[in-house]
Amino acid sequence: MDESGLRTFVEGLPKAELHLHLEGTLEPELLFALAERNEVALPYPSSDALRAAYHFADLSSFLDLYYAGCTVLVTEQDFYDLTWHYLTRAAAEGVRHVEPFYDPQTHTKRGIPFETATNGILRALTEGESALGITSRLIMSFLRDDPPMSARATLESALPYDTLIAAVGLDSAEVGHPPEEFADVFSLARARGYRVVAHAGEEGPPAYITGALDSLGAMRIDHGVRCLEDPALVERLVHDRVPLTVCPLSNVRLRVVPTMADHPLRHLIEAGLLVTVNSDDPAYFGGYITDNYLAPALALGLSARDLVRLAVASFEASFLGTGEKAALIADVRAYAETHGVGW
Ligand code: ADE
Ligand code: ZN
Repeated sequence: MDESGLRTFVEGLPKAELHLHLEGTLEPELLFALAERNEVALPYPSSDALRAAYHFADLSSFLDLYYAGCTVLVTEQDFYDLTWHYLTRAAAEGVRHVEPFYDPQTHTKRGIPFETATNGILRALTEGESALGITSRLIMSFLRDDPPMSARATLESALPYDTLIAAVGLDSAEVGHPPEEFADVFSLARARGYRVVAHAGEEGPPAYITGALDSLGAMRIDHGVRCLEDPALVERLVHDRVPLTVCPLSNVRLRVVPTMADHPLRHLIEAGLLVTVNSDDPAYFGGYITDNYLAPALALGLSARDLVRLAVASFEASFLGTGEKAALIADVRAYAETHGVGW
């Protein structure tokens, strides 16, 4: 398959997206429209000027811009619009199931009630299922560079939402904020029936991955690419089938790796890890899910069959039930066969 054939193939490939920050889907055009709607002043004259500023030295230089962008999100409708824009784009790129993050504290600390963000997002996700056929499980992510008591307060705010929020996560600036600090709040979250995921081993050391597993009870690791520095940890992740939600374009844009040709995706797959490919903050990193499959495929010489296996892994690593997973994996198989790609 040539590049354009591979792009078309990937666009139609049924897949799940398991590492996606809804706030990271805020495209400059929508950001400017919301700024106008809410009378928020921006330090850039236009959406093009803002996009031109998207050069990051590391995770924290990205987060500065990402949090600044979030200030335009004010009303429930804003959160609905943000989520709906993402869902329509995802549907056009073959996403059948999404487990998105949002960061409630990013909004509550600006005075936006927990309910405002949560209700807007949930309304769009419900409509995404009925109108676009995309199922979802929402993940509420705690900020690891804010105190654990703030995460705890957020957990309390979520009480009325019961089963509407499926999981808790841990994100934001990683280095210097080890998972162990959040052991108590994650323990309480688990007791309340939440599933647990955590960002670890993006910029932080492999010990943060071990910490996320042991102290937080994480069942899936977001990023996790630095596990390769610890062979015993790789063995554990393979043995326990702990999924990694890898985000190739993010890793290049945030300089976790120098270029896509240096990305460890192939090594992670060859080590036998349950690897998935995702888009992280696509409005900031130059591509959505299709580009995140395509860029490493081209740079590392992955085959169409490798990409089919990644799509299967995305459903296996999801929170869906056994029957739902089997049905979606059968769709992947049928799609691959129709396109003459071996299983
Ligand atoms: N918040 C949004 N994107 C993130 C990332 N890639 N790592 C940590 N926190 C984030
Ligand atoms: Zn992330």
